[in-house]
Amino acid sequence: MEFSAQDCSLETGQGRGTGVAHRESLSHQTAAEPSAEGIPPIEALPAAIGALKKERNAIILAHYYQDAAIQDVADVIGDSLDLSRQAARTEADVIAFCGVHFMAETAKILNPQKIVVLPDINAGCSLADACPAEEFAAFRAQHPDHFVISYINCSAAVKAQSDLICTSSNAVHLLQQVPKERPILFAPDQNLGRWVARMSGRDLTLWPGSCIVHETFSEEALLRLKLEHPEAEVIAHPECLPHLLDLADFIGSTSRLLERTQTSAAPSFLVLTEPGILHQMQLRAPEKEFFPVPGVNGCSCNLCPYMRLNTLQKLWFSLRNLQPRIELDEELRQRALVPIERMLAMSV
Ligand code: 13P
Ligand code: SF4
Repeated sequence: MEFSAQDCSLETGQGRGTGVAHRESLSHQTAAEPSAEGIPPIEALPAAIGALKKERNAIILAHYYQDAAIQDVADVIGDSLDLSRQAARTEADVIAFCGVHFMAETAKILNPQKIVVLPDINAGCSLADACPAEEFAAFRAQHPDHFVISYINCSAAVKAQSDLICTSSNAVHLLQQVPKERPILFAPDQNLGRWVARMSGRDLTLWPGSCIVHETFSEEALLRLKLEHPEAEVIAHPECLPHLLDLADFIGSTSRLLERTQTSAAPSFLVLTEPGILHQMQLRAPEKEFFPVPGVNGCSCNLCPYMRLNTLQKLWFSLRNLQPRIELDEELRQRALVPIERMLAMSV
């Protein structure tokens, strides 16, 4: 599937899935816009964020797809599994979640008594948007005997309808623990689902969702980069389309890809995931070279438009005003908690 640069812009609010609709209906968070007033100059922001963090007894969790400047002020940088584990164990009073809505919502599900802020409340996810709770309920009703595994990239209302949550780090391991005779329904990422099915030898009934970032990589650009850098290893996130995964030397979650760049003997890597992660790759293996594979038509669609809504300014604002917050209906939270806790207990 091919997209133009316009397709992946959220600025007009007309691209696929602004992420706003389902979140407004499922959680009752308060949105607030940073005003220029009072925001320290850019060079003073890291120190100002550090001071506010202390004052609030806050922890800053950041996903690898955040801007380097955000990663540099974070207490923990990780993939979805690392960050939910950290959210489950933190003793901070405030969690400033620099990632996307489903990640901050998961932190809130695990910590109802803590304040969870997301610097930009519109930081959604095309996968979560691709799976509205009511449609998912109808799909489940068509497969009443199936065990339901949902990728963590979904709303609390979809989690609440699932038997087990997984991330790309633990999906294969978790799937192998489901009794062989039990059919499995997997949502919402069909590309991850196909890869997990292949790795585990299980048949899965797939919800037809996908990530607008990972389905945009250009095969032509990858082949050209391979010719230019024959020594490079191709590493890919399993949300990529199958024909690109077929060209990869190594497939894994963001943290596994990062690990691979440190443990592999290859001197360079062609990276098929959001290029935000290159910051940590470069920091941890400065002697190696990393080449992000571009999107089709040279567009910058390989940058996650949702992740990139968070900025240092918005992070400062969210710590100062403790807004925008994630709030959840308690009954929904309790139902969504069950499959998340099951995942944490079943993961290695
Ligand atoms: P990871 O859990 O591998 O970090 O993936 C999260 C994500 O949103 C990938 O697009
Ligand atoms: Fe969602 Fe894709 Fe962005 Fe990950 S990269 S947060 S799956 S839209």
